[in-house]
Amino acid sequence: MSIVLEAKHINKYFKKPVKFHVLKDISFQIKKGEFASIMGKSGCGKSTLLYILSTMDTDYEGELYLKNKLITGQDSTHLSYLRNKHIGFVFQFHYLLSEFSVLENVMLPAKKLAEKSLQEIEHNAMQKLKILNIEHLAHKKASRVSGGEKQRVAIARALINDPAIIMGDEPTGNLDSHNAENVFNIFKQLSVKQGLSLLIVTHDEDFANKTDRIIQMGDGKILP
Ligand SMILES: Nc1ncnc2c1ncn2[C@@H]1O[C@H](COP(=O)(O)OP(=O)(O)OP(=O)(O)O)[C@@H](O)[C@H]1O
Ligand SMILES: [Mg+2]
Repeated sequence: MSIVLEAKHINKYFKKPVKFHVLKDISFQIKKGEFASIMGKSGCGKSTLLYILSTMDTDYEGELYLKNKLITGQDSTHLSYLRNKHIGFVFQFHYLLSEFSVLENVMLPAKKLAEKSLQEIEHNAMQKLKILNIEHLAHKKASRVSGGEKQRVAIARALINDPAIIMGDEPTGNLDSHNAENVFNIFKQLSVKQGLSLLIVTHDEDFANKTDRIIQMGDGKILP
């Protein structure tokens, strides 16, 4: 099985207000098609780790590989390209542009990547909406759809550039149990049918127990 994401000996310090060793020698791999979750007490460093893995935070020690290529030390322009092309994000709060339509929101990361024609991007965006069963919402304003639907729009948007991995920081944190299960099922299908890798931070034990692997964190470390 090929490895999509690898963290090697990641250490991170916050320097203010006092020096604080927040991530301690974090090493792990995520394989192609693997659906992994990260659990751990509030404040143990989950979001801090996800910021590093997603290349948004570059202030750390250790090495990060995406699709077997070292990305640690790359310049910010290249990192933003890699992030947009290979990594999809889903957060607890969806961050959709409320004045734009659902379809426009989903198209946005592909427009930024600018590797395909607008027509092709629109076609692909409709395909993603279909996968998520929300194609009927394409032309609605993002502000006019429900919370569960917004989360599915956010997943469609995360998928638009056909990333290798989806990372989520409590993507179901805001959803009722029915919608949370819905999102789990969508993630599961994507991992099984399309070989997508997923790394999802969650406080929801039912959700985590259904994933392929739980990475348990405590006090800045991965627990054995
Ligand atoms: N910018 C920062 N400067 C200093 N300390 C920070 C900063 N961001 C986070 N911390 C601290 O680092 C630790 C880890 O924070 P982090 O947000 O990664 O936790 P978490 O595991 O995601 O928690 P939660 O489950 O509540 O979201 C906490 O003690 C937090 O207070
Ligand atoms: Mg957090």
